[in-house]
Amino acid sequence: MRDSIPESKTRRSFLKFLTMFLGGAVGLLSSWGALKFVFFQTRAEKDRELSMETFKSLTLGAPFFVPQAEVWVVKGINLSDSFALNDRCTHLGCRYKWNPEKSAFECPCHGSAFDVHGSVLRGPATKPLERMALIEQSPEILGIKEQLSAK
Ligand code: FES
Repeated sequence: MRDSIPESKTRRSFLKFLTMFLGGAVGLLSSWGALKFVFFQTRAEKDRELSMETFKSLTLGAPFFVPQAEVWVVKGINLSDSFALNDRCTHLGCRYKWNPEKSAFECPCHGSAFDVHGSVLRGPATKPLERMALIEQSPEILGIKEQLSAK
């Protein structure tokens, strides 16, 4: 003898469960994405600073790596002429290094090269390095802000 539960009722229960499960999964993923965005944004902005003392000690036009901020800072005559470059290659995101003999940033992964302003000298990268402004946050601290495009 078969159970007396109608087939349409079990199907309806299953669909209700599936809808609730998928809704919950979407909700969890959305919350995680929002938390992750807030956490990493705050951390990145907090770490992107440079002491004024370090900045003043830099040589004009000679790129200086700031590891905690993951940028190269290039000092100009004035603060407004100075800038920072994200240390990730615009081809596929490898970390590049400054080669003083060639006066170029060189990426070890696929050979891209960029000038001191971040413009592409050699591909496969086609986009300039991400350029950032240095802004005086206080007499002791410079903030590194993402807002400039490469020259
Ligand atoms: S990641 Fe730099 S050249 Fe490909």
